Amino acid sequence: MANVSKTTDMAGQMKNLPRHIAIIMDGNGRWAQKRGLPRTAGHKAGAETFRRIATYCKNIGVQYLTVYAFSTENWKRSTDEVGAIMALLKKYLLEAVDTMERDHIRLHFFGDMSPISPELRALAYETDEISAHLAPGDFQANVCLNYGGRDEILRAVRQFAADCAAGEKKPEELDDAMFSSYLDSRGIPDPELIIRPSGELRLSNFLLWQCAYSEFYFTDVLWPDFDEEELDKAIAAYQGRERRFGGVKK
Ligand code: IPE
Ligand code: IPE
Ligand code: MG
Repeated sequence: MANVSKTTDMAGQMKNLPRHIAIIMDGNGRWAQKRGLPRTAGHKAGAETFRRIATYCKNIGVQYLTVYAFSTENWKRSTDEVGAIMALLKKYLLEAVDTMERDHIRLHFFGDMSPISPELRALAYETDEISAHLAPGDFQANVCLNYGGRDEILRAVRQFAADCAAGEKKPEELDDAMFSSYLDSRGIPDPELIIRPSGELRLSNFLLWQCAYSEFYFTDVLWPDFDEEELDKAIAAYQGRERRFGGVKK
């Protein structure tokens, strides 16, 4: 019975499915605290949820999934917690290197990788290399690591200014498309849908440029409890929205 309703949901989703979904994976700490567990247990459970939701997105035909894994502000946390998150990322990347080619999953990172450990950076580089061999139409997961929307914009502005100083670009030729090409998300369409679990009603520095016309979906469910059914609900809410982009209803 459960299978039947899942198939029906998936069929319903095929029409007007977002091509790009972005998720702020929040609520790991509270999930663990509610169970009397250390916060790091919440991050471990959250990493499992990411695997599951990425697989589901791929199976239903979403092309891009961008997840917020670690922000430029998350360094304020204890060394233990930051270390545990980095260790989980390493474990995930080691698995990904072995399986992404087989599963046709492209993996890409958004964020300033310079303060990330050389070992993790090397793994991220390796996943980029593997992704380059996969077809452009294959499912792509973007992991935001040491990512901040303001930092991404500042890095883009610095690079554009440097290109102008070098005589390669002119200030007056800068438009939406050219600016986008300086961002970590270059070449990827803006997310149609941004999901934030855990009950917080804010962006916390996520995709500030790309969210201009995104639809937002907030839920109280904590990220480790987020499942396929919750994603179906978010997609259904998105499909019920009227997107006008500043125009008027037709
Ligand atoms: C999100 O969960 C994961 C990261 C920010 C790395 P949190 O760790 O923020 O969980 P809460 O918000 O404290 O519950
Ligand atoms: C946003 O969550 C960052 C990630 C989920 C990686 P936070 O938990 O860091 O955000 P705030 O502090 O509640 O705004
Ligand atoms: Mg949080």
